[in-house]
Amino acid sequence: MPNAQYIKSMFDDISSRYDLLNDLLSAGTHRLWKKKLINSALKSETRSVLDCATGTGDIAFGFEERSIQKITAIDFSPLMIKAANERKLKKGSCIDFQVQDVSNLPFKEEEFDVATISFGIRNVENLEKSLQELSRVSKNLFILEFGTPENNLWKKIYFSSLKAYFPVFSLLTKRSDAYDYLISSSEKFPSGEKFCSLLKKHTSFTEIKYHPLFGGIAYIYEAKRLI
Ligand SMILES: C[S@@+](CC[C@H](N)C(=O)[O-])C[C@H]1O[C@@H](n2cnc3c(N)ncnc32)[C@H](O)[C@@H]1O
Repeated sequence: MPNAQYIKSMFDDISSRYDLLNDLLSAGTHRLWKKKLINSALKSETRSVLDCATGTGDIAFGFEERSIQKITAIDFSPLMIKAANERKLKKGSCIDFQVQDVSNLPFKEEEFDVATISFGIRNVENLEKSLQELSRVSKNLFILEFGTPENNLWKKIYFSSLKAYFPVFSLLTKRSDAYDYLISSSEKFPSGEKFCSLLKKHTSFTEIKYHPLFGGIAYIYEAKRLI
């Protein structure tokens, strides 16, 4: 289980290089996946969005580009929110960025049409409470997260090539432990059907689906309430 203080200090420490690291390590693929998440989440009735574990705000800015008016974005790392606010200033954006913990959200029941969390749920210390909170404050939930490929050969190739990237990461940041953490947490985190079972157990959503990306390197989960 991730330790909140460790995770917060790690993301504070890599916040100034986070965007560059993301682009280099994923060869830009994270942008395509984030676009896919936003497209899945956008329906004609979507007026308000909460993006949790927003980091430097990629998902929140993506929704703003798609003309969503009410966007709130939270992260518990003050330095990630500082970086997001610097981007906000440059873009002349209206997003409300706040330092908050996803396991204790200061919002009303179903305040948001949509909640999203991209590459964040794997990092929360209290997964059960965080899922309950996401389900409480939103009508629909969309999650993008790393996972484990179901095919064993692909799984081996993927995780060993991730390890080969380690020197690049070490060159770019003093927190090389962040890269170890990325690999080990992705290997351990429940994905696909297993994560859907957790969504069923800890949320009030009734319609739960998942879509593997690149053979299960990552997954998009959709959780909705049938009206
Ligand atoms: C890998 S980054 C993802 C950032 C962004 N969503 C993206 O996709 O680029 C994970 C983020 O989760 C945040 N985080 C981890 N645990 C959290 C919690 N309990 N509450 C809020 N944010 C949290 C970290 O501070 C970090 O910014």
